[in-house]
Amino acid sequence: MTLLALAVSGRGLVSTDAPVVRADDEALLRGKAAFETLRVYGGRPFRVDAHLDRLAASAEAIGLDPIERRELEAIAGLVLSGLDAVDAVLRLVWTAGPVGGPPAGLALLSEIPGWIEPTRARGARAVSLLGVRAAVPWLLPGVKSTSYAVNMAAEAEAKRRGADEAVFVDGEGVVLEGTVTNVWWRRGDTLYTPAVELGILAGVTRAALLELAASRGVRVEVGALPFDQLYAADEAFTSSSVREVMPLVEIDGRSLGRGPLADELQAELRRTAGGP
Ligand SMILES: Cc1ncc(COP(=O)(O)O)c(C=O)c1O
Repeated sequence: MTLLALAVSGRGLVSTDAPVVRADDEALLRGKAAFETLRVYGGRPFRVDAHLDRLAASAEAIGLDPIERRELEAIAGLVLSGLDAVDAVLRLVWTAGPVGGPPAGLALLSEIPGWIEPTRARGARAVSLLGVRAAVPWLLPGVKSTSYAVNMAAEAEAKRRGADEAVFVDGEGVVLEGTVTNVWWRRGDTLYTPAVELGILAGVTRAALLELAASRGVRVEVGALPFDQLYAADEAFTSSSVREVMPLVEIDGRSLGRGPLADELQAELRRTAGGP
């Protein structure tokens, strides 16, 4: 993702290639940092309060200093200033800092990856991979930390198998989430998505889609759902802030129908967010 602008807590806007994290920051050495990725529609970040709430909760779970909300809002404003009504990706990062602090807050504004719209148009292919249900607090259920090496390895494995993304399924065959997405499927009139109690990330897009589905009168079942349901779905899709609603046309080499609901929810999400 091409970096368009960068701001740092206590420093303000800096050059996009400026060094901003100390070599002894525990974020770098041990992956001790929390982050958020937001989509910016026409210069406005979507549901920034929900993302900051989740960032605060992630920081607490990892044992970081409490986030400085005002400062993070300020640096988010700085990377957006000067760019008129931009559609972009905003990342907010809150690091541990060196042992004993201080933490660093970063705001990164990047271009929306170019592969997303062509992939949405053709539909994405997914593979299922074994994932771990974060059933105990020290597995950091629902925490968005920068320790994403396993998620990135799963994405690389999906690509190696000729797919676009991976869906984690636990050892008992319960669907969890994608590597960087939440997972959905429709069978008949009912939309299904895994429960956050499974230790998955409570996606901000997931929450928005649950609201949109409710307002359309769509029946939604949320729970510990078996993977074979996904094979038998009429349509399926994933959701995230950056990818929004991404239809799945294949899972483990089996074709999935391309249904209307994914496209309808995508269009409504854009309308809600004030996007193009
Ligand atoms: C593991 C995981 N699940 C789900 C999501 C989707 O969350 P959101 O809709 O808040 O972007 C993400 C986003 O990056 C993620 O990393």
